[in-house]
Amino acid sequence: MSTSPNPSPGLPGPAPAPGLIQAEGVRKVYNSKSGPVRALDGLDISVPEGTVMALLGPNGAGKTTAVKVLTTLIRPDAGTLTIDGMNVLTAPKDVRRIIGVSGQYAAVDENLTGQENLRMVGRLYHLPGRQARARAAELIDMFELTDAGNRPVKGYSGGMRRRLDLAGALVNSPRVLFLDEPTTGLDPRSRLALWDVIKDLVAAGTTLLLTTQYLEEADQLADTVAVIDHGAVIAEGTSDQLKSRIGGHSVAVALVDGNDAETARGILARYGSGTPHTADDGRSLEVAVQNGPASLQLILADLQAEHIDLHDAGIRRPTLDDVFLQLTGRPTEADPEPEAAQDKEGARR
Ligand SMILES: Nc1ncnc2c1ncn2[C@@H]1O[C@H](COP(=O)(O)OP(=O)(O)O)[C@@H](O)[C@H]1O
Ligand SMILES: [Mg+2]
Repeated sequence: MSTSPNPSPGLPGPAPAPGLIQAEGVRKVYNSKSGPVRALDGLDISVPEGTVMALLGPNGAGKTTAVKVLTTLIRPDAGTLTIDGMNVLTAPKDVRRIIGVSGQYAAVDENLTGQENLRMVGRLYHLPGRQARARAAELIDMFELTDAGNRPVKGYSGGMRRRLDLAGALVNSPRVLFLDEPTTGLDPRSRLALWDVIKDLVAAGTTLLLTTQYLEEADQLADTVAVIDHGAVIAEGTSDQLKSRIGGHSVAVALVDGNDAETARGILARYGSGTPHTADDGRSLEVAVQNGPASLQLILADLQAEHIDLHDAGIRRPTLDDVFLQLTGRPTEADPEPEAAQDKEGARR
């Protein structure tokens, strides 16, 4: 742990934070044209040193705002934030020295090469010229941008840009790293490659907070997953713990005739460990079950006894998507219209 002083004696500071990254009661309201938007509404998180936390939530949940507040880019309206015991609000410069951040808002000069961009970041961190050059070259190699390193960034693919962005966050060899949706929009191959790099960083001891809308990403990378909705954590645990909330598997059936839905729903409820979910089409039903194969057999037998014809039936391994649905009653994809969301935020006051 660092020897940095705790918050000034005058402040009613809390006891030394157990998490290397610690946020308590963080609130941030944006004033938009259509009224105030509560982007963070009592966010509490704690990330122990050397571990990875994923903030998992749909668009508009407050993920980027959380990262910006934690990395000194914007000030919250309320709350306590510390990184390695240093107060983010009163000692932002000290905090910046030990953190790296990558995300949609990172500045990249399109006309400069990858190498030049990284050197520029090095200079922002006051690295001597020679050191900045050496670090840039090292990172270019690490991210397999060697061939592209001397070409202007404007010719880079999406995957290359993300790698350069991540490289930029590592220039000052940060102990604490923040990655805002590191792989959103990438093709599967680039995503896997980036996951490998991130796993290496974590293995080397970096404490990481990442945000994601990808349930699999949280599953792959994070020790702890904090599900975030409307600017607050609504559930937290390992991805296994979150999954176990909804049982081990789910059984999904697609009916030929929607008129059978009521009867089928009753059968699924009989063997399920939760309330069956009926999709908008009225014919696709799903329920969490404790024992996938055995539950499927029981459900199929009863459906057959009722002469209910099926298009399809099967076992699905639960994803964190299911957890979100279970917790909030809506799927992660169901992003409300921004206008409606803001009206709702306003109305919630
Ligand atoms: N600069 C801003 N002005 C007004 N509203 C904003 C601004 N930035 C974000 N918001 C709103 O705050 C909420 C949280 O946004 P954000 O933190 O970007 O969420 P996420 O990163 O999870 O998608 C959303 O409703 C978004 O529309
Ligand atoms: Mg975001």
